[in-house]
Order: sequence, then structure tokens, then C-alpha cells
Amino acid sequence: MKIENSLPCPLLPEFPSQTGLQFTVATEEDFDEIMAMSQDIYGGLDYLPTRYGSWLQEPHRMVILARKDGKVIALESVCVIDDGETVLVEGLRVAPQERGKGVAGVLLRFCSQLVKARYPDVKVSRLTRDDQLGPKDFQKYRIITKQGILLVRFRAEDLKLRLAEKDSDTQRFGGSTVPHAVLLDPSEAHRLFLSAGITQDVLPNATIVQDWQPFKPLPSNMAILAKKDIDWMVDDAIRPSVASLCTFPFHVPIGEDWYYLNIDIFGKDLDLVRQQFLSHLRRHTATLRGNVMCQLFLDPPLWEPLAEFCRNTLGVELVKGYTEQCVVESDLV
Ligand SMILES: CC(C)(COP(=O)(O)OP(=O)(O)OC[C@H]1O[C@@H](n2cnc3c(N)ncnc32)[C@H](O)[C@@H]1OP(=O)(O)O)[C@@H](O)C(=O)NCCC(=O)NCCS
Repeated sequence: MKIENSLPCPLLPEFPSQTGLQFTVATEEDFDEIMAMSQDIYGGLDYLPTRYGSWLQEPHRMVILARKDGKVIALESVCVIDDGETVLVEGLRVAPQERGKGVAGVLLRFCSQLVKARYPDVKVSRLTRDDQLGPKDFQKYRIITKQGILLVRFRAEDLKLRLAEKDSDTQRFGGSTVPHAVLLDPSEAHRLFLSAGITQDVLPNATIVQDWQPFKPLPSNMAILAKKDIDWMVDDAIRPSVASLCTFPFHVPIGEDWYYLNIDIFGKDLDLVRQQFLSHLRRHTATLRGNVMCQLFLDPPLWEPLAEFCRNTLGVELVKGYTEQCVVESDLV
């Protein structure tokens, strides 16, 4: 890692006076105010409430707030990855009453200046978007990769029963229940996800996307990922053609007993992708009680057959139609 400086950041003094906004580094005390302005975000699937505390502790991350008259009106987080060469932009949000006035643009530019001042080796800014990109965005960004987003919801107890029925049907009709899904321990995951085989043949444009965070397969990034609660899976630990990462279930603001599962699957073989999806679901529905929003990210052509499988075989509810997660980059200017 080339990054050396992880002290609390000094804020650039000249930016605020031009815009009427003040910029501060987020602290634990700001949590309630940030949550208050985040009520409607991501249809109730906001990850920030569970990540906020750990984000404040991460050494190469800054969580920056924009304030108007002292009140928090916007947030963005920037995290330096890829051996110090890339900044990952996340969490962007503006208070509903302040949207459409250019606040996000000002905050993005402020954060870029801050990153350039503190991490001069950073050359590229990377982010994921799931909204419709327009011509202006295509001028601004290079597209790194796209994954289809399949969002389904179910009660964990119901799906557990459905999966057990499906297994017994398979056995009754003489099919194989042996899943081509190998759960990797951390050292195997580290070795495999840095291997040329996965990088060239499985990962989309050589990118590991984990719960909206896109990383190059580098040892320093694997060290960041190793700190998270993730299940790493492949179909074959020697020559994988499908690989997947699944978060442990975590609470989301949509409702009291609602959990979120994020499954990123890489690879193009429908049967193997389906098996890994089922393996992750089996693992987590074994113990989970309550409602689950499950977001599955996969190669776009696999969306339709997987959606049909979810509807007709698993009997789970599709929350929305096809949408896309787009990983984009631009030079840090
Ligand atoms: C998206 C949102 C932050 C835009 O805020 P805003 O102050 O109304 O936006 P602005 O008027 O400054 O203009 C939008 C600018 O932000 C950019 N932008 C929009 N969504 C973005 C995103 N997810 N990441 C980075 N930039 C984004 C636009 O491309 C535009 O850039 P430009 O100035 O170069 O044209 C705001 O509508 C919001 O908080 N929405 C709910 C949360 C959300 O969807 N966040 C984005 C996903 S991380």
C-alpha cells in the first residue's frame, strides 16, 4: 500500500465560502441527523445504518458532510483502494428538500479536491450507479462493467421449507443434490480470487464487485474484503467458472424484522449460477427468521431465466423488473 496518511482530514477552507455550504468530517454524533435525511433512500434498503460505525473507523476512508446553516444536508464517503490509485465514491445522498440545486455536484467536487490534496497518488474515481445514465454521464465516465440486478423478497421460514421440498423432489426423481458450490475459507478465497484463472475468465472486466463496491483483484483489496462477513463460493476450487460472494444478512430500515442479503455472482453458466444462488439461500435460511430482501447481481443475460426460476420454482416475489448496476470510472480532475 502506498497510502501513508490516515489522520483526520483538514478541510479545504476556500470551497465553503464560494457555495454557502460548510464541509465537516462525519462523527458518531452526526448519525441521527444523517439517518433523518436518509429516510427514503434505496426503497428502504439503505446500507449506511449498519456500515456507518465501521466506515468512521476505516483508515483510508473519509465520510464528508455538507452543512447549510450548520444542519447536515448531504453526505458522501470516499475510500482509497487499489494500492492507493483509486478512490471509491459511495453513500452519496442529499436531503430531499435540497435536491435538484446542484448540492451533490458541489460535494463531489469538494471531495475530489480533498482526495487529491491528501492522496496525490490517486488517479481515478470509481463508483457504482443503478440509475439511468444519460449522454452527459457517458461523456464523464468509462463503463467498467454492468451486472443485472434481481431483487426478490420472501419470508426466510417459507423459503427454507420450499428449498427442502425442492431437494426431496430432486432425490425422488433420481437427480443429483450434490451442489457444485464450494465454500472457501479466507486463505483459499485470497489465493483463488488473485489467480489469473478467475480474474481473466470469471470476473467481469477483472473486477470483484462486492455489495456495490468494485475492487481490482489485488492483495491490498483482498485485505479490505477479508475484514467483512462474506461467504466466498466457487463451483470448483481448481478451475472455477462461476464465483460468488454473499453478505451475512443484515438489518435494513424497511421494517423491524427485515434483513438484506446481497449476492454477487460472476460467470455465465446458468446452471452453476443457479446452484450457487441456491447454496447461499440454503445457508442463510437455515437459521434466519423474518423477512428478507435479497439482491442478486449477475451477468445480464442470466437475469430473465433466474427471474423465472425465482417466480415459478422458488415461489418468491420479484420486487421490480430488470435494472442494472453499472461500475464506472473517471479520471480524478
Ligand atoms: C442522487 C442525488 C444525490 C442527487 O443530488 P442533487 O443535489 O439533486 O444532484 P445535483 O443537482 O448536484 O446533480 C447531480 C450530479 O450528481 C451526479 N450524480 C447523481 N447520482 C450520482 C451517484 N450515484 N454518484 C455520483 N454522482 C451522481 C450527477 O451525474 C450530476 O453530476 P453533474 O453535476 O456532473 O451533472 C439525490 O437525488 C439523492 O440524494 N437521491 C437519493 C439517494 C441516491 O439515490 N443516491 C445515489 C446513489 S449512491
